[in-house]
Amino acid sequence: MSLLCMRNICKSFNGIPVLKQVELTIEKGEVHALLGENGAGKSTLMNILAGVFPADSGEMEFDEKKIKKMTIQQSEKMGIAFVHQELNLFNDLKVYENIFLMKEYKRKAGALDKKRMIRETQQLFTELGVEINPEEKVENLKTSQKQLLEISKALFFKAKLLILDEPTTSLNNDEVEHLFQIIRNLKDKGTSFIFISHKMPEIFQIADRYTVLRNGEFVQAGKISEITQEEMTDLMVGEKLSHQEIYQAREPGENILELDHLSGYGFSDVNFTVKKGSIVGLTGLQGSGSSELLQGLFGAVPVTGGTLKLHGKDCKIRSIQGAMKAGIAMLASNRKENSVIPDMSILENMYLSEQVLSARHPFISIGKERKRYERYKEMLSVKAEDPDDPITSLSGGNQQKVFLARWLNTEADILLLDNPTQGIDVGAKAEIYKLILKLADTGKTILINTLEIPELAKVADYCAVFYEGTVIKVLKHEEIDEKTVMLYSTNAAQKGE
Ligand SMILES: Nc1ncnc2c1ncn2[C@@H]1O[C@H](COP(=O)(O)OP(=O)(O)OP(=O)(O)O)[C@@H](O)[C@H]1O
Ligand SMILES: [Mg+2]
Repeated sequence: MSLLCMRNICKSFNGIPVLKQVELTIEKGEVHALLGENGAGKSTLMNILAGVFPADSGEMEFDEKKIKKMTIQQSEKMGIAFVHQELNLFNDLKVYENIFLMKEYKRKAGALDKKRMIRETQQLFTELGVEINPEEKVENLKTSQKQLLEISKALFFKAKLLILDEPTTSLNNDEVEHLFQIIRNLKDKGTSFIFISHKMPEIFQIADRYTVLRNGEFVQAGKISEITQEEMTDLMVGEKLSHQEIYQAREPGENILELDHLSGYGFSDVNFTVKKGSIVGLTGLQGSGSSELLQGLFGAVPVTGGTLKLHGKDCKIRSIQGAMKAGIAMLASNRKENSVIPDMSILENMYLSEQVLSARHPFISIGKERKRYERYKEMLSVKAEDPDDPITSLSGGNQQKVFLARWLNTEADILLLDNPTQGIDVGAKAEIYKLILKLADTGKTILINTLEIPELAKVADYCAVFYEGTVIKVLKHEEIDEKTVMLYSTNAAQKGE
């Protein structure tokens, strides 16, 4: 008997069908990958399963019980835990308070039993090998810690089925490996997982079976051991995706950025020169300084030492506004915390940066912005109906594309991209990388920070590997591969391992 059976599930939003007779079967003690392009309907199907909203029609059976009406409370009671794609923590509460929210332990007199909650939170973290102080305020945690906290929270209540919707977007390789250990342990004890990710190597590492959705329809299910990564990609996009090399070397222009012993919050003594029209990769473990350097160049964290030359002239970036005026744009990592303005429409979210930049001319031409939006929508293949819909009605990956458009729209010379393909499907990733190469051809200078080395190897002219706040090695295009990068980012090369 399967643990979960969903059959003929249909769902429309505003009359537009997003799930059409979808089926999903989950066995006991398996890791099941749910795959599909951005907007295919993965999160929607999971929301139905977890009772966030109902399906329009269809049947659902869980743990040998037919479900008539699923609610969030009901799904939790039955043992379904849902770790959402976007973090869902309360920043101004403490770690343990987030875990026990609405499920607080009370003493006989009715007062909260804080000690017990803190103790059990600590026990859980020890069991899972997670290093977080239960009494820390959530706002003080790093994003990777927040993601681990979300997962730990789901594990606390001993669910039978755990839904992990892109759980690894802000975890580094060690943290992913650690999470996989936890998943394997629980799987051995009979827990089932639904695992959603756009990182194909991860899926092949952890999943037993898969289901592919395309445009809201069921395409195929099967065993991971009986399919290749390329076949899987083709199932998702519905045609053969070209796996050819897209990189072409360019003739770089004059120096546009010169970093001389540059230091700041989280990075120190960084030296390198970037020529106009080049694509530079930055990488390193979380906290190694590569993301921090981008934030420093964008005026988001202070620069405290060294010199920076922009177009050959000394330049001090003191604020984000200053950076933007100097022609620098930045797509920040962690969409929900840094990019999404939830009360605004798709269109407003797109032209926001341009509006800030032209603050002296506050009258944005909506007609012009609509035209631009249509251009970017086409260029980045954004799956959206109406630009006046709220940004939150888009799937995660499609939101990310809108934020990329937000910065392309400012027409800055220098683009700083921090984890730009977070949550973006394979097909669109390839499009975005082609676009990056095209932008470099037109003279834009691009710095990309990412942990996804195979992707970097496709586009970067060279790659600076960070270790403990500084650049430990610069690799040429042909030297960029996962093994070499790992060697330097863990400093194993130096240690002679
Ligand atoms: N609340 C909503 N209102 C209107 N449309 C919605 C809403 N939620 C989702 N949709 C639409 O339903 C479709 C499926 O979205 P869903 O979030 O399920 O995609 P996904 O497969 O999870 O994609 P991603 O990989 O980008 O997260 C999308 O076209 C999306 O715009
Ligand atoms: Mg989703």
